[in-house]
Amino acid sequence: MFLTKYQERMLNGEMGEAISKCMELIVKIGELNGADNLIPIKSAQIAGVSYYTVGESIFSFLEFFSKDQIKVKVPSWLNPAGMDRAKWREMGVSEDFAEKQNKIIKLYMSMGIEQTLTCTPYLIGHKPSFGDHLSWSESSAVSIANGFYGARTNREGAPLALASAVIGLTANYGLHKDEYRVPKVMINVKTNIKHFSDYSALGYWYGLRYQGFIPYFKGLGNSTVDQVKMLAAAMAASGSVAHFHIENQTPESKNIDLSSIDETIIFTEDDKKSIYSIYDQTKDEVDLVVLGCPHTSISDLKKIYSFIKNKSLKKDVDFWIFSSKTELEKDQSRSLIEKLEDKGIKIFTDTCMVVSPVVRERYKNIITNSTKAAFYLTRKGDNRVNLQSLEKISQEVFK
Ligand code: F3S
Repeated sequence: MFLTKYQERMLNGEMGEAISKCMELIVKIGELNGADNLIPIKSAQIAGVSYYTVGESIFSFLEFFSKDQIKVKVPSWLNPAGMDRAKWREMGVSEDFAEKQNKIIKLYMSMGIEQTLTCTPYLIGHKPSFGDHLSWSESSAVSIANGFYGARTNREGAPLALASAVIGLTANYGLHKDEYRVPKVMINVKTNIKHFSDYSALGYWYGLRYQGFIPYFKGLGNSTVDQVKMLAAAMAASGSVAHFHIENQTPESKNIDLSSIDETIIFTEDDKKSIYSIYDQTKDEVDLVVLGCPHTSISDLKKIYSFIKNKSLKKDVDFWIFSSKTELEKDQSRSLIEKLEDKGIKIFTDTCMVVSPVVRERYKNIITNSTKAAFYLTRKGDNRVNLQSLEKISQEVFK
């Protein structure tokens, strides 16, 4: 791989051990993937924050950077942690866990990384621009950055995203290059995609069949970022799909050469139902409804409220929503948040149902509108999950 003189000096340790280790990681991964040079990035989004998912090993890793007072070179943000930083007791998180979680966040912050603690940085003022090169690691955000905004990022592992944040460079391969951004499969959507959960079902269905292949959706109509984030998260979860195109909507779709398409498939009503039937696992009383995978926006919350405003939550069902602190601050008067809380709904920030241990530990029979949440909640432990639309949820757990 070509390196400039300055990059070589960083790699050789002239700027210290931490910089050298970061360079080593970026160059090694780049060489393995056939990169021919390094390119500057505009931002980094770093996963590996929750103490529940990273464990004790994170401390020595981060302390290695903090002891040399290493700072990031580009705007960098954190993915969700394992708890709401303010309401962790209410969630049922232990003192010990909270202490360790706070220590992890502080270590990241000491490097100049913002504690956004969200998987939807694009909702809170960190929208990438077309053509920006990034180093993002949350899979749903990676897919949105590439597909919805036309920015360029591979799905980075957390250490690599951190290394790129420190150096301000990434290796030029994969989704940074034009030739790896072309669609291979066209999906003709021949059924009504109306609910957030329908977008999620479509993405999940595609990802199960075409692991890693870039799709081109036809017949989906113009979709909002809130709808598309459900689709993107689902494809990333079931099929590691990191980029997509939607006909007449996403920025690269207009100039795309469709001769790259190898296969055209149809998504039917039966296909949609097949995903709802995978996640139709509990016939028992539901313990928890959980929304916010990916994190909800204020307009998601308005939509949720519109379904339940004249109803009250049934007894014995908890209802949790995950979002980000910065997104909730858009409701300056807090009137929407208060209305939802008055219905018995708890809104948590900084974390989610997957990267916090609490949902798995406290609840067994769960309803959600996200196949990504359903996928991860049922991977270990004995949670049973039903996938439902907001409309159906409002009928089932509200009266
Ligand atoms: Fe976000 Fe957690 Fe889902 S990080 S995409 S809410 S699994």
